[in-house]
Amino acid sequence: VQGDSKHLYTVVVLGASGDLAKKKTFPALFGLFKNKYLNQNTRIIGYARTKMDQSTFEGHVSHYIKLKTEEDKAALQQFLKLCSYQSGQYDKDSDFQILEKHIVEVEKTSGASARLFYMALPPTVFIPVATSLKKNNYRKNVTIRLIVEKPFGMDLESSRKLAKDLGALFTEDEIYRIDHYLGKEMVKNLMILRFANVIFGSVWNRHCIDNVQITFKEKIGTGGRGGYFDEFGIIRDVMQNHLLQILSIIAMEPPVSLDAEDVRDEKVKVLRFIPPIAKDDVLLGQYSKSEDGKEPGYLDDTTVPKGSKTPTYAAATIFIHNERWDGVPFVLKCGKALDQQKTEIRIQFKDVSGHLFKNLSRNEIVIRVQPDEAVYVKMMNKEPGLGMKTIISDLDLSYSSRFNDSVIPEAYESLILDALNGDHSNFVRDDELDAAWKIFTPILKTIDDGHIDPIPYPFGSRGPKGVSEFVANYGYTRGEQEYVWPQHSEA
Ligand code: BG6
Repeated sequence: VQGDSKHLYTVVVLGASGDLAKKKTFPALFGLFKNKYLNQNTRIIGYARTKMDQSTFEGHVSHYIKLKTEEDKAALQQFLKLCSYQSGQYDKDSDFQILEKHIVEVEKTSGASARLFYMALPPTVFIPVATSLKKNNYRKNVTIRLIVEKPFGMDLESSRKLAKDLGALFTEDEIYRIDHYLGKEMVKNLMILRFANVIFGSVWNRHCIDNVQITFKEKIGTGGRGGYFDEFGIIRDVMQNHLLQILSIIAMEPPVSLDAEDVRDEKVKVLRFIPPIAKDDVLLGQYSKSEDGKEPGYLDDTTVPKGSKTPTYAAATIFIHNERWDGVPFVLKCGKALDQQKTEIRIQFKDVSGHLFKNLSRNEIVIRVQPDEAVYVKMMNKEPGLGMKTIISDLDLSYSSRFNDSVIPEAYESLILDALNGDHSNFVRDDELDAAWKIFTPILKTIDDGHIDPIPYPFGSRGPKGVSEFVANYGYTRGEQEYVWPQHSEA
């Protein structure tokens, strides 16, 4: 698979000294290189404002790369030889012209004829950098790909402005908007589960499904980046993008083909059936000190404005007004500083009709996105023995036991590879973004205007009081029998 892509690239990472590049971009590029998914002649150039010499840059590139074997160590040494760095301002043509010289120099030896610009940048310098790139580093007959990262605006209006400004510089075909959840193994599995299994496909509608829960939990708080987080809040940080992406794949109609535009057409279509979220369909929380007093509350973070009402937890219910889903609540829940880390999709079916058996729990299909990737189906069974008692059990496809030799790639590896190969299917299209903001902008405005007080919940707890009642209101029931997924305790 070496050099799988049609093109040989120079990869330019803008914002190379930042956290995202260090934690995600460089380790992913290394992962692709090590596994021979990156043409071994690919060159990587880092660009940022910080002045750094080559060895400091190499330290930065390798910081989060995990080396398990001697081969890994050798591969890293090879990889670092492909990396170089240049510092410069984000809005200075002369600096981007020096970058251009650097790129041309590198291309002379590598023979690359395509350029991937990876913008790992704060939103304030987004357009200045894109403008400088277009002016100084854009070549007509060279394949250009531009990877951009969220935040894609703050609301419908700012997102449209950003799309317009970026659209004036680069074509939609050149732009790859990352939502890294689309690169996760279990999210990529959703289309196969739905459209390659008769048993799932035929029950995937309002006649059989009672409610859908999409849950994201994190143990960590905002840990020092509270100032940044406070401008956005959990809905913009996680729900409007990651959880809504999952929802759109769960709910969309089958695409005509697996072609990127066919898939994205269906995702946009289903989003357009969703009205803006109503105030009554939202529950917000903000974490306070942990019960033992050891972990600080959100407002204790000195970078957070005093008295901030920014939610660190949100539950919101979405309805899809089409024939397949009319009346089925999709409850999205996400929060920081909770009792555990997990992302999962829980599809709960309706009650069995008739009174043949007592003491039943509902069927559920659970897609465990992370950690401990799994798909399991909760179902009723006869309790083994002489009686006819029912017992809740499961069909469990846990990846650790079923696919224990497979390595699950990092989301960023999968997405960068797609971008190199020119495959847009797992990137966000401009009209999709627009549809997503339409759903969230009114409720975000209500929240930003301070009209909803978040309910405090202790750091490390299950979230604000009232969450169980909230989900129960939308039909979710725990069932009459106690069930614990054997791999993990359910929460
Ligand atoms: C990011 C959010 O998009 O996703 C973070 O900005 C969050 O706040 C992260 O922690 C979660 O990603 P993952 O891959 O760790 O689940």
